[in-house]
Amino acid sequence: MTPPAAERIRTLPPYPFAVLNQRVRALQQAGKDIIRLDIGSPDMPPPEAVTETLYASAQRPDRHGYAGYKGTAGFREAIAAYYQRRFGVTLDPETEVLPLLGSKEGIVNLALAYISPGDVVLTPAISYPAYAAGAHLAGGEAIFLPVSEKDGYLPDFTAIRPADAARAKLLWVNYPNNPTGSVADLDFYTQAVEFCRRNNLILASDNPYVDVTFDGYVAPSALQADGAKDCAVEFMSFSKTYNMAGWRLGAAVGNAEAIRNLLVVKSNVDSGHFHAVYDAGIVALQTPQAWIDERNGIYQRRRDRILAVLPEIGLKAYKPAGSLYVWARVEDGDGGAYAEAALEAASVVIAPGLIYGEAGRQYLRFSVGVPDDHLDEALERLKRWFASRA
Ligand SMILES: Cc1ncc(COP(=O)(O)O)c(C=O)c1O
Repeated sequence: MTPPAAERIRTLPPYPFAVLNQRVRALQQAGKDIIRLDIGSPDMPPPEAVTETLYASAQRPDRHGYAGYKGTAGFREAIAAYYQRRFGVTLDPETEVLPLLGSKEGIVNLALAYISPGDVVLTPAISYPAYAAGAHLAGGEAIFLPVSEKDGYLPDFTAIRPADAARAKLLWVNYPNNPTGSVADLDFYTQAVEFCRRNNLILASDNPYVDVTFDGYVAPSALQADGAKDCAVEFMSFSKTYNMAGWRLGAAVGNAEAIRNLLVVKSNVDSGHFHAVYDAGIVALQTPQAWIDERNGIYQRRRDRILAVLPEIGLKAYKPAGSLYVWARVEDGDGGAYAEAALEAASVVIAPGLIYGEAGRQYLRFSVGVPDDHLDEALERLKRWFASRA
């Protein structure tokens, strides 16, 4: 006999992708040849210089100890240099940069740093599940801001009820967006900063896809908005920009007090990476833009392949300017039912939109992080299945 799990665990639904993974494993064990279009993880390796640096650094006897709760000074300086170069934003590497064990870790720990029972986070009604989960684990809750395709999945800050704003501590935004692929301009971030300053909130900008963009689009950072550092903290991730999802490397940057509070949580929970990971991260941050452009070009071609097939399989989508995803609407029905039928009949996994909130019920998320031959085979299977349905 063991005691029951804590209330916060018993009332937290299992992480949707963990449930989906179990289901897929069971089908694979039963001999099914499954193709996954649901996984938001790059299928290609990091730049060679990154893996070479990891290898060389790991050979050194002095690189295996604790590297400190704030990572290495060199890594923090390299992140500050990236923000200066890429966005023209100046960061103090000592007080405004904090390495993370992947951005998801920082997202949940930011909630532990700010949310007490009764507090809320504001998050778009279609968003990455960790924003609401973090609030729940901290004893608070999420209030979902309506978003829709016609508004480009951008929340309207003027529509937030003053009573909700008064209870809130954090506002989450994420552009280029998972799962919708929608983007935001600097004007949007300026409005978000104004709203957060007026209401005494942290603007939490989760920005892992900022360098995964298409058709020449260049995404901004929330920290470029005037006065952003008064209230904003941005989460950057090496997972998608440099194809390093399994490395668990990211950083929180921006408002020094938010960074300090996040460090209080983190220094009680983890002890950072070992030096070799930070050494390789420094090299990743120096990746030539040409490498990023070439990789994005591969995703863009896959995006276009998916978009071309959608009308033949009863789905409709706009062209996303960034992220790893195509967000497709089921013309006559429910995303969950569609995904279930595609899995059963075509052995293709597509993420049901409901994973990202009730407002995503009619949608499906396709990932472009899938090798070309797998993607082609999956799309052919879906076409055959859909044609045979009628
Ligand atoms: C919007 C968003 N935020 C955060 C993450 C987590 O990324 P990381 O690998 O840095 O933890 C993901 C991963 O898919 C994501 O889509």
